[in-house]
Amino acid sequence: MNKVDYLRISLIDKCNFRCQYCMPNDSELDYILSEELLTKSELLILLQEVFIPLGFTKFRLTGGEPLLRADLIEIVHEISNLSETKDLSLTTNGYLLEEKAEGLFLAGLKRINISLDSLNSDTFDRIIGNNSKSRWQKTWSGILKAYEVGFNPLKLNVVIIPNVNDHEILDLAALTIDKNWHVRFIEFMPIGNSKLFAEKAWIPSVDIREKIKNKWGLQESFISGNGPADVFKIPHGKGTLGFISQMSECFCDRCNRIRLSADGWLRPCLLNETGQIDLKKALREGIKTEKIREKVAQLLLIKPDINFKERESGTNIYQRTMSQIGG
Ligand code: GTP
Ligand code: 5AD
Ligand code: SF4
Repeated sequence: MNKVDYLRISLIDKCNFRCQYCMPNDSELDYILSEELLTKSELLILLQEVFIPLGFTKFRLTGGEPLLRADLIEIVHEISNLSETKDLSLTTNGYLLEEKAEGLFLAGLKRINISLDSLNSDTFDRIIGNNSKSRWQKTWSGILKAYEVGFNPLKLNVVIIPNVNDHEILDLAALTIDKNWHVRFIEFMPIGNSKLFAEKAWIPSVDIREKIKNKWGLQESFISGNGPADVFKIPHGKGTLGFISQMSECFCDRCNRIRLSADGWLRPCLLNETGQIDLKKALREGIKTEKIREKVAQLLLIKPDINFKERESGTNIYQRTMSQIGG
């Protein structure tokens, strides 16, 4: 059985963007009330008394937008100082990085993944659902700042949507030629966005890869990480290209992760809502962490069966959007 040692921790469900594929404008989102968020100390208790004893050593902070969480720096500091932490990373939209990257780096975060779906400010604004002043420039400045303060590897996540940003595949891939950045193309998934998905559909990684290969050639490569990306590089390029192909390939058999939502639900599979446990409720009811640990251990035992459930049933009905799950 695959070792499950990677916990994705959503710190907040709010976001300052409305990416159409993640948090559609017309979806009536009920944000989690602040008293329902796991507090920093509850999170640390869960890490130290439940997850770390079960072998978890790799943690990723996600959202919504995790940079909106007021005590983020303290959370980073505390998790990075746990002796068992082997990897601590964060996924962000980059908008607030210009001002926050340095503090995060100094607090002990070393690795960051930033979403960037377009190099064109109009397309970018359309994707992130923004009608006011363009947000591209500030996001780009955030990426530059993160690189400048020392985040390495620095990964850029691109979701390709047909007829929206697929004409930019080569331009986005070209970023890796003279920059030591790692661009990852993620297949667009139908989670909480059925209307857009039905309209636009998705492009398989092999097609994106062929396009890039035809232009520059591609070699297999490697970059540190815990995710499912297949990694290549353009010959002589400084960075790498990753392909995350959860639509065209099933990597459930090598799934190494579970997800904790901002309101404390533990979710064994991104694509599946069965088997979730409410850890916050258990903590607040005073249930001993030993007991909680046992429940999580049981969940890990049945996780391989849960992983395949969604694909078998073929249903695409999700209660939560990607912004609520944390990607
Ligand atoms: P690294 O540790 O840097 O490899 O990060 P990562 O790829 O695990 O993290 P990131 O937050 O950048 O995730 C990228 C995207 O990959 C996610 O938003 C999802 O779209 C996809 N993905 C990650 N994990 C899973 C998974 O377990 N199942 C599926 N179907 N997709 C996933
Ligand atoms: N399909 C694929 N990737 C998605 N993300 C958010 N929603 C979707 C979706 N529907 C990605 C974002 C971000 C990561 C956390 O999740 O691009 O980089
Ligand atoms: Fe926010 Fe990220 Fe979702 Fe965009 S993809 S709405 S930035 S959580």
